[in-house]
Amino acid sequence: MWARIQRRARLTGSVAPSSVRLADELASLAAGFDQVIELGAGSGAVTRALTHVVSPDRLEAVELQIRLVTILRETYPHVEVTHGTADFALDRFNMAGATAVVSSLPFRSLPADVKQLTVQSVLRFLVASPSSRLIQFTYGLREPFLAPPGFEWRRIKWVMSNLPPACIWILSKLADEVAVATEKPHDPNRS
Ligand SMILES: C[S@@+](CC[C@H](N)C(=O)[O-])C[C@H]1O[C@@H](n2cnc3c(N)ncnc32)[C@H](O)[C@@H]1O
Repeated sequence: MWARIQRRARLTGSVAPSSVRLADELASLAAGFDQVIELGAGSGAVTRALTHVVSPDRLEAVELQIRLVTILRETYPHVEVTHGTADFALDRFNMAGATAVVSSLPFRSLPADVKQLTVQSVLRFLVASPSSRLIQFTYGLREPFLAPPGFEWRRIKWVMSNLPPACIWILSKLADEVAVATEKPHDPNRS
């Protein structure tokens, strides 16, 4: 019983829902993408802000806890709300253009097995769709999780009014290095 409570706390990772200010900042970064998938939609604070920048038919919200999924479905009847894990939802997502993956997942506190599966799915997603981005906030000073070479984290901004203050980061896939064939200049003395 205690183990279940602890695991639930590690999956939730927060004492309060995301503030309106944090939700609006996250949503503004998702504006202009072809599609948006929200991971760990929770109580729907970020979902609400996302409905202002993307039409509901291009927004999918993913949440693990059925109690919250029920509330999300009631509150946002036109948004596709998926009950399940973020890694599963990302792996089966129907990509149609650049996608903003907006995440409230608490990577710092997620159980190690869940974190590993989720990070691998995010990286696979960005490899399959390099114009897509992971938009993620964290309460820590460092990037939300370590990304391998070939990926780049950019710190975007702190939202100090959130409780606790949150920092927004964006993860992208770096362009593959183009092997430039260096042709030797023609030597007229050689045939
Ligand atoms: C920080 S809380 C939600 C924050 C949300 N923006 C809000 O204001 O309520 C993180 C959410 O991620 C969900 N979650 C944790 N691990 C998950 C996973 N692997 N897949 C999907 N959702 C997950 C939790 O159930 C929790 O609702």
